[in-house]
Amino acid sequence: MSRIVFLSDLHLSPKHGFFWKNFALARDAANVSDADAVVVCGDLCIDGPDSDTEMGFAALALDGLEPPVFALPGNHDVGDEPPGQDARQIIDEDRLARWDQAFETDRFMLDAGVWRLIGVNAQLFGSGLPREDEQEAWLARELTDAGDRPVALVLHKPLFLEREDEDEATAATLNPAPRARLLALLRRAGVRLVISGHLHATRDREIGGIRHLWLPALAFLGKGGHGGVPAVGALLVDFAEAEVRIEPLALPGLEPHELDAIKGHGLWRFLREMPACPPVLGPPA
Ligand SMILES: [Fe+2]
Ligand SMILES: [Fe+2]
Repeated sequence: MSRIVFLSDLHLSPKHGFFWKNFALARDAANVSDADAVVVCGDLCIDGPDSDTEMGFAALALDGLEPPVFALPGNHDVGDEPPGQDARQIIDEDRLARWDQAFETDRFMLDAGVWRLIGVNAQLFGSGLPREDEQEAWLARELTDAGDRPVALVLHKPLFLEREDEDEATAATLNPAPRARLLALLRRAGVRLVISGHLHATRDREIGGIRHLWLPALAFLGKGGHGGVPAVGALLVDFAEAEVRIEPLALPGLEPHELDAIKGHGLWRFLREMPACPPVLGPPA
C-alpha cells in the first residue's frame, strides 16, 4: 500500500448533475489505476448540510470506486465553522450526524508506504462543538503513535493562504486561532506535509518547513484570488519513499467548468437554488 488517488471537491447531487460526468471519469480512471486507496478530500455534495438525499447520493457514488475509500467532509457536506461563507449552513450536531450516517467517520489514519496519513474534519476547527476537542486529542495521539514515520495531514481546507500568521477569519482557510493551535501540534510532531482541497486551485509550496499541497477540484475551476492555479483534475501520490512522488491522474475529457457561467453570471447565488437538472447516470439497464 503506497499509491493513493486524491479526489477533492466533487460537488455531486441527484438534483444538479453539472459535475457528474467529471466524477464518472475520475471514478473510472481510479478503478483502472493501480492505486491502493482513494482519499476524497471534502465537498462531495452541493447541499450536503441540508439534504439527506444528497448525502446518500454522494455515498452511493463513492461505492463505485473499487479501491478502499477514505472520505473527509467539507463545508458543502457538514457546513462551515463560524463565521463561514453562508450563515445558514454552519456546522452543527445534526449535520455531523448526517455525515456519520452516510460515511461512518469523518477522520482516518492510514499507513501508506513509509508515511502515515492522518485525515481530519477541517470544519470542526473553531466550531466549538464537543467533537472539535475530541478530534484534537485523537490527532495528538495519532501523531505520537506515528513514531519515526513522516506524517501527512489531510483535510478539506488549507491552513492559510500565504502566511501562517494571517489574522483575518475567512471561509477560504482555517480561522487564525484554531490554525495556530493546529500548527503548534504539527510542529511538535514534525509533520512534513499538509494536503488540502476547497480552493479548487493547485499549489505545491513549502512554507515554514511544511509542504502544503493544494489539490485540484473535480467539479469546477476556482475563481482565483486565493493564490495557486485554478484547476480541475486529480492527483496520484506515491508514499513509498520519504520523498513523495506526485503525478496527475490522467483524465482525458474532464470539463474545466466555470462556476459563474453555470450560475448564469449572477442569476443564481447558490447552485442549490437552481432549477433541477439531474445527472445522466449512465446507459439504461
Ligand atoms: Fe468545493
Ligand atoms: Fe469547500
